[in-house]
Amino acid sequence: MCRRHVSAIRKEPDTLFLNKENEISFCEDLKSYVHRDPFINIFLGRTFLSHEMVETVGVDKLAGRIVGSASRASFIEKTVFMNRLKEEMCPQKPKIVQITKTMDKLKNARGGSVALNTGYHIPLVGFGTYKVEGNQVLPAIDAALTAGYRMFDTAKYYNNEKELGDAFKILLPKHNLTRQDIFITSKFFPEMDDCLIGSHKLIDESLEKLDTNYIDMYLVHYPKPKDAPDEDVKNAERRKLTYQAFEEAKDAGKIRSIGVSNYEIYHLEELKSYAKYQPCANQVEFHPHFTRSKLHAYCRDNGIFFQAFSSLARQAPELIEDSVVVEMAKEHDTTVPLILLAWARCQGVGIVPKSATPARVTENFKVIDVVLTPDEIKLLADLNRNKDYIRCTGWLVK
Ligand SMILES: NC(=O)c1ccc[n+]([C@@H]2O[C@H](COP(=O)([O-])OP(=O)(O)OC[C@H]3O[C@@H](n4cnc5c(N)ncnc54)[C@H](OP(=O)(O)O)[C@@H]3O)[C@@H](O)[C@H]2O)c1
Repeated sequence: MCRRHVSAIRKEPDTLFLNKENEISFCEDLKSYVHRDPFINIFLGRTFLSHEMVETVGVDKLAGRIVGSASRASFIEKTVFMNRLKEEMCPQKPKIVQITKTMDKLKNARGGSVALNTGYHIPLVGFGTYKVEGNQVLPAIDAALTAGYRMFDTAKYYNNEKELGDAFKILLPKHNLTRQDIFITSKFFPEMDDCLIGSHKLIDESLEKLDTNYIDMYLVHYPKPKDAPDEDVKNAERRKLTYQAFEEAKDAGKIRSIGVSNYEIYHLEELKSYAKYQPCANQVEFHPHFTRSKLHAYCRDNGIFFQAFSSLARQAPELIEDSVVVEMAKEHDTTVPLILLAWARCQGVGIVPKSATPARVTENFKVIDVVLTPDEIKLLADLNRNKDYIRCTGWLVK
């Protein structure tokens, strides 16, 4: 049984993904797949992980082919099941492999996508949700899905995970989409104490509120807890434990890709000493007045997707009234926000513009039609002032 398992992994067999949406049919599917192809890998959705289901299919049919779990509520069951497999059928622990093949609907996202170092694709154009709150959420997400956004950026700090989850529940069917058609990012600051246990609780809470059994990308929001002093010597240990909790959650199928935000090169270097999975992304403030060229180059050289936040600098007049940007918008017969967004996207940098105004949500997606030349990209990059407009100063954090 174990030999078969090993060869199945080496063969990189096709993967059957079983999720919440196909719960009804998947019992039958599961049985037929198991019998048809001895090398098929089975991705366990939470329903499957009941003892009843295990009995229905037969543990012996499954041993050696289990590769992962998207389980949320059934995490304990999964552990019990894995242990049972280990003890009864397979002396060596079933290998957990992340699933990518059948899931990559996002590869062809409008506006382009990038393959993360986990194999999953992230759309380049996303929708930022900071300060999209309460009853603003539904119309904003509706406009975003209509326009073509498939990536959504939230955080504990934004206090809108529940509203987003509720909105997706209503809007995905309306737009003839399923969970796999969208990419959700969430993030939180490291806790002050009990970082490992605390992080697991927060991740589970995200799954609950967003009403999903996996988060596409989870970011360590900041290299320190919100209320810790920048120079606090405990910060390094706190972000390490937070990251390690993410890694455990990834192994449990709750998170697909782990990234960071507001990390500097020295924070990223630190990760090399302990991370089992190197970060897939770093989300930082990025616009023509704050080009982060060294950090950007470091991320590119280390396979870390560079994702911009606050590309519009929250409408800071210094940036949106910058005469070079204004002039370029006129030349392209477009708007300043679209030039700022295109400047990032045309470099392969991800963007997550925020607007709570449906008309602007729609307008911002038109960034996909604005193509800047290398010279224009350079002209804007030369406006750099090393000026941040948002109060995220990760470079101060020890
Ligand atoms: N990781 C981090 O630490 C971090 C930090 C900051 C932000 N972020 C993420 O990045 C996202 C975007 O950044 P942000 O929210 O700071 O700001 P932003 O996207 O730079 O700017 C948002 C502001 O611009 C306005 N706006 C948007 N489109 C516009 C348009 N076409 N014309 C005129 N005004 C327009 C919005 O107004 P209305 O809403 O009123 O339309 C809002 O006031 C956030 O929502 C969040 O997801 C992450």
